Amino acid sequence: MVGSVVFKLVLTLVLFTVQVLCVKKPAEILIGRLIHWIHDRLQHHSVARYGYPVELHKVTTQDDYILSLVRIPGKSDKPPVLMVHGLLSSSIDWTVQGPDKSIAFIAADEGYDVWMGNVRGNTFSKEHKTFSSRDKEFWQFSFHEIGLYDLPAMVDYIRSNTSSDTVHYVGHSQGGTVFLVMASMRPDYNRKFASVHLMAPAAYIYHATSPAVDFASRIDELEMFAKLTRSYEIGGRGPGSSVDLVYVGHKTGLVPTSLVLTNIWYLVGVHDSINRTVLGEILANTPAGCSVYQLLHYGQNYLAKSFQMYDYGPVRNIERYGTKIPPEYPLHNVTAPIMLYYSAGDNFVPPEDVEELADQLPNVVHKHLIGLRKWNHIDYLFDVCFIRHQVL
Ligand SMILES: *[C@@H]1O[C@H](CO)[C@@H](O)[C@H](O)[C@H]1NC(C)=O
Ligand SMILES: *[C@@H]1O[C@H](CO)[C@@H](O)[C@H](O)[C@H]1NC(C)=O
Ligand SMILES: *[C@@H]1O[C@H](CO)[C@@H](O)[C@H](O)[C@H]1NC(C)=O
Repeated sequence: MVGSVVFKLVLTLVLFTVQVLCVKKPAEILIGRLIHWIHDRLQHHSVARYGYPVELHKVTTQDDYILSLVRIPGKSDKPPVLMVHGLLSSSIDWTVQGPDKSIAFIAADEGYDVWMGNVRGNTFSKEHKTFSSRDKEFWQFSFHEIGLYDLPAMVDYIRSNTSSDTVHYVGHSQGGTVFLVMASMRPDYNRKFASVHLMAPAAYIYHATSPAVDFASRIDELEMFAKLTRSYEIGGRGPGSSVDLVYVGHKTGLVPTSLVLTNIWYLVGVHDSINRTVLGEILANTPAGCSVYQLLHYGQNYLAKSFQMYDYGPVRNIERYGTKIPPEYPLHNVTAPIMLYYSAGDNFVPPEDVEELADQLPNVVHKHLIGLRKWNHIDYLFDVCFIRHQVL
């Protein structure tokens, strides 16, 4: 009797599973939903909401990741600008403050053709020709591969789509890291940039005091945790994800604003710049997910006091690099004209580290220490009043 009930249950489950699998392969269902969701978000995306034209472009990398580029087409014949977000962020953070207060809108108002990248693994770039983002294989990358494959794919796409020889580049934090990876490892790309603006670029980070860097430098524990839980994605979105719980908790009033802000400041540096009205929208999209290997790579560089390639351990390093210790990125190959923006209140990428970077780069045309206020690591995106005067 009990046996037959259990059997029926099992059969029902099996039939249900088969039915789901046969109607459509799960990967297709997932991708279909994701695309639908992206379009939905774009509709409500601050760009469209404020009456600016917006386009979504898909770019495929050499290693088959499919990335979303969001464009606010230019109103004049000024050259295109590519903006690349930081770790755990997305194109949305360039616009979330609305017109006059977000770099993307300010640049668009000035007539620039604005392109905002989304690097592999974030909410808007989770497609791959072969892998689903639920596969372990999908997440085998750090900022190294983003610099080596994502940026070149974006730049080449923009150049061909706009018939402009060069683009301007704006990168925040990891957006700076990946530029330096690309320009040092694939030096041919330097000539494709008219100017390069790196805000709080995370190359050397060994003076960092942020608890987040400390967390990333617990390499063995993090790696073991990822392997045991099979979670290679960190801070990703989706129903039931921990970051969505915070977002909904805040939206419903369960999680007070002050608690959210205290935690943000704890991680990025204390400077109260975030507009309380906009905080909910920031949380709706940020964090936007990354691979655990991005964190590990930063953690390794923090401990090594170096800006170097991924450390796979002595044996695999010898196979890959010919040396036990990973080589440093050859920064002397970065010949594009670089402008550096940094701040004393930034506990991720403090001034000492940016100054060391400046010493290694052969073509720094401008260094801008943001002096008037103690900007933290994310004020480049969210400090409403200051952006126009300080950065552009
Ligand atoms: C740019 O991309 C869009 C979208 O794919 C396409 O419609 C347009 O023709 C492209 N323009 C050029 C000049 O390649
Ligand atoms: C970087 O520049 C050096 C010359 O200084 C060159 O030998 C090397 O091949 C370059 N690196 C790459 C990855 O092209
Ligand atoms: C905060 O954001 C709201 C909504 O966008 C806006 O109306 C308000 O002026 C902003 N406050 C400041 C100080 O910019």
